[in-house]
Formats: sequence, C-alpha cells, structure tokens
Amino acid sequence: MKVLVTGGAGFVGSHLIEELLVQGHEVVCLDNFTSGKRINLEPFKEKITLIEGDILNLKDVQAALEDVESVYHLAAQISVTQSVRNPLHDASININGFINILNTILESSVKRIVYVSTGGAIYGEPLHIPASETTPEEPISPYGLSKLVGEKYLKWFNATHGLSYAIIRPANIYGPRQDPLGEAGVISIYLGRMLNKKPLEIFGDGSDTRDYVYVKDIAAICTAAMASHVDDTYNAGTGIQTSLNELVEIIGEVTTLPIRKVFKPPRPGDVKKIALDITKAKKILKWTPQTTFNTGIQNTWDWFKNTH
Ligand SMILES: NC(=O)c1ccc[n+]([C@@H]2O[C@H](COP(=O)([O-])OP(=O)(O)OC[C@H]3O[C@@H](n4cnc5c(N)ncnc54)[C@H](O)[C@@H]3O)[C@@H](O)[C@H]2O)c1
Repeated sequence: MKVLVTGGAGFVGSHLIEELLVQGHEVVCLDNFTSGKRINLEPFKEKITLIEGDILNLKDVQAALEDVESVYHLAAQISVTQSVRNPLHDASININGFINILNTILESSVKRIVYVSTGGAIYGEPLHIPASETTPEEPISPYGLSKLVGEKYLKWFNATHGLSYAIIRPANIYGPRQDPLGEAGVISIYLGRMLNKKPLEIFGDGSDTRDYVYVKDIAAICTAAMASHVDDTYNAGTGIQTSLNELVEIIGEVTTLPIRKVFKPPRPGDVKKIALDITKAKKILKWTPQTTFNTGIQNTWDWFKNTH
C-alpha cells in the first residue's frame, strides 16, 4: 500500500516509517524540517519518497497525496511551553495545517487516516488516573487544545464526508532520535544533559508524574489502528505513573553516572499527574506495549552514547 507519513523526519515519524517499510509499504514522507532532521531518514532514505514541504501549503500537500491510500498525520508543533508562548503559531500548524491535509484528502485516493493526537495533554488534570478515552477532555495548554480541535475536525470530516479514521492519544513518548535540545521529551533532555555532565532541571518538586511509552510501541499501535478499519480513539501508554524523582533515579541506575538536580518553578501548561488507561487498545487492537521502562531507557542511553 502507498502511505503518506506527515512529519516523517521527526522522532516518532521516522520510527513509524521504519515499521511501515518492514511491513512492505511504499512510503511518502512530507516534512518541512522545522524540528525534523535529515539524519533521522538516513538509514532508509533510498527507500522512501521525500516531499520537502509544508502541511500549510496546498501544492505540497497535493504532491504528497498523489496515489496515496492511507495517511498517518504526525506533523505538528509539539512543545507545550512553545504553545503557551505562541498559541497562534501552535494553532496555525496543529489546526490549520491539519485542516489543509483533511480538505485535500477529499480530492485524493486516500481511504483512511490515523491521526496522532495526545493523551498526555488532552485530559488536563483528570479526577481519576489512569484516564480512559471517556475521561472529559480538559486541556490546560494551547497544545492540548489544538490537538483536541484537530480530533473534532477529523470527526467532522468523518461524519460529513465519510473519511475513515483512527485517533491515537499517546502518553509521553521516548526513545532513540528524540531531540535532547527540544522543550518536549524529558527523558532525552535528561540523557543529553547526563552525557554533557550537566545538572537535571526539575520543574516543581519532582512529584509530577508521567506515563512513559517507548517509541517502537507507538509505531506498532499506529499500524494496528490503520489495519483495524474501525473509526475510533485509543489511548496509548502503559497505565503506569512515574514521578520525575523516580525517573531521575532510574536514569542514575542506567547511566551509572552521578546525578545533580536543580529545582525550578513549575511551568505553565504542564499537567501535574497523568497516566493512561489502555484497556480499549488492548481489547480492540490487540496492542500492548512490549518495551519495559528499563529496557527502553537503556536503548535510548545506548543510542545517545553512540551518536552524540
Ligand atoms: N513526543 C511525544 O511525547 C508525543 C506525545 C504525544 C503525541 N505526540 C505527537 O506525535 C507527533 C510526532 O511528534 P514527535 O515527538 O515525533 O515530534 P517531532 O517534532 O520530532 O516531529 C514533528 C515533525 O513534524 C514536522 N513539521 C512540523 N511542522 C510542519 C509543517 N508545517 N509542515 C510539514 N512538517 C512539519 C517537523 O519538522 C517534524 O519532523 C506529533 O503530532 C505530536 O503531537 C508526541
């Protein structure tokens, strides 16, 4: 099948492309390299079609969709902090860019789309953890809001034009290729700082929790959701809460290096505690995350040591 991955030069997109190539698909990647990197595509660049372009540009999107049967939409502004600083920029990419994709799909051969939304930022501060897909969506950041609006547009295109879809709501994704210098992705930021012997910055008192899921497991749920043919929404995490203090301890164990911590005030837009209930994905998609936290952190640390 010919498939398009938007944001394919990014952290998650490049792992998804690898998985799609293993499954024998013909892959087109649309990316403007704002946060994506050419080196992420290096291992398989001869095997894909790269359209260097913007999801906001109609011609770029038309070119990327030529003869494509299914789309994985990952291109996005992904930083919560950046979205608080500049909500207009966040909305232009995450909402307008996505509408441009959806609208252009209507004139194409595309049958189904998988939209990578967010589970970490869409529920805000839920009353009950782990949050399930029926937990009210109450995002507290422009990023969470723009991803939610994207979901609502997708459902409108489904209801009005019959576009088949699956929505994936991932928790905090980590793994090789995640940018250690970005503002999202605390594990890669910490491992990058460990490598450079810098202190680890903790925003708040370290009791905030996240649900960390390995990037290969997210690639797997995306392809499972594409294959399912059901129009539905799935959380994708582990269901396990890990506090920042616990994370720092695990990082100390894996790297076997001394840790220095610096405590800073909490950042606006960051939720305090979150983990996702993945019962639905287990039942309907027969998906469960395969990578234990220690193995995932070890793989990521090995990658850092080999590439930085
Ligand atoms: N990383 C996480 O923890 C996490 C968690 C939940 C959801 N997600 C979602 O997963 C997806 C991928 O995130 P990631 O962590 O790989 O981020 P990333 O920044 O590495 O990837 C995003 C990609 O989109 C591209 N892009 C951005 N704006 C574009 C535009 N206007 N036109 C074309 N390409 C553009 C970037 O160059 C980059 O390659 C995003 O939709 C994000 O919201 C990520």
